[in-house]
Amino acid sequence: MPMQRLDKILASQSVGSRSEVRALIKRGRVRLNGEVAKKPELKADPETDKIEIGGELLHFKRHVYLMMNKPGGVVSASNDTRMRTVIDLVPESLFRRGLFPAGRLDRDTEGLLIITDDGDFAHRMLSPKSAVYKLYEAQVSAPIGEREIALFREGIRFQDGTSCLPAELTVLCAGETPKVQVRICEGKFHQIKKMFLAVGCKVLQLKRVKIGGLVLDEKLKPGECREMSEEERRAVFFKQNP
Ligand code: URA
Repeated sequence: MPMQRLDKILASQSVGSRSEVRALIKRGRVRLNGEVAKKPELKADPETDKIEIGGELLHFKRHVYLMMNKPGGVVSASNDTRMRTVIDLVPESLFRRGLFPAGRLDRDTEGLLIITDDGDFAHRMLSPKSAVYKLYEAQVSAPIGEREIALFREGIRFQDGTSCLPAELTVLCAGETPKVQVRICEGKFHQIKKMFLAVGCKVLQLKRVKIGGLVLDEKLKPGECREMSEEERRAVFFKQNP
């Protein structure tokens, strides 16, 4: 990794703001490869140099990847002047500048959301070329039968003429307001809600439970998040059988 200023490295790892880390350095609390580093402008390679703060080794992370169980009522955005965002829910211990939600869920949609500061990762995940499947569970306003399942399989067409790729619709719990599962590999605006509207149903509740091979950790309560492992990050791109 290219050499960077010590104060920039520490600020990027949420050790403190740029001025706070400069103060730490000036107070002699930071060591670089065993030597007290008194100048914030000293250059270091954060991946190979040994940096200690108050005697504790810095474990440098180029990017962070968080799995969130998004609750209803918050917007999938980095900032909003009026409403609470998913970034507002990230605890201080996991927060760093530049975090954003990789993809969007509607305000009332719950479930699996990835939050990261890695633009390339998000771009690859959202690119149609990657064909990453998303699995949703929904409760809908009318019974679902073979006709609706076939229409989803053929590819739904919205009223404005937009065509969707084939999707898999499965009934999990039949009834007047059935619980269903839908698997899609695109991310059109309000896609699931519009797909059901096209077959005459309203979505009453919507939750994303899987992205590629990454499954929502059900131990996460709504609003909670945790760091993803490297294996979980790779699982996003696992190819699923259509
Ligand atoms: N489809 C929708 O309609 N809403 C979401 O939040 C996600 C997919």
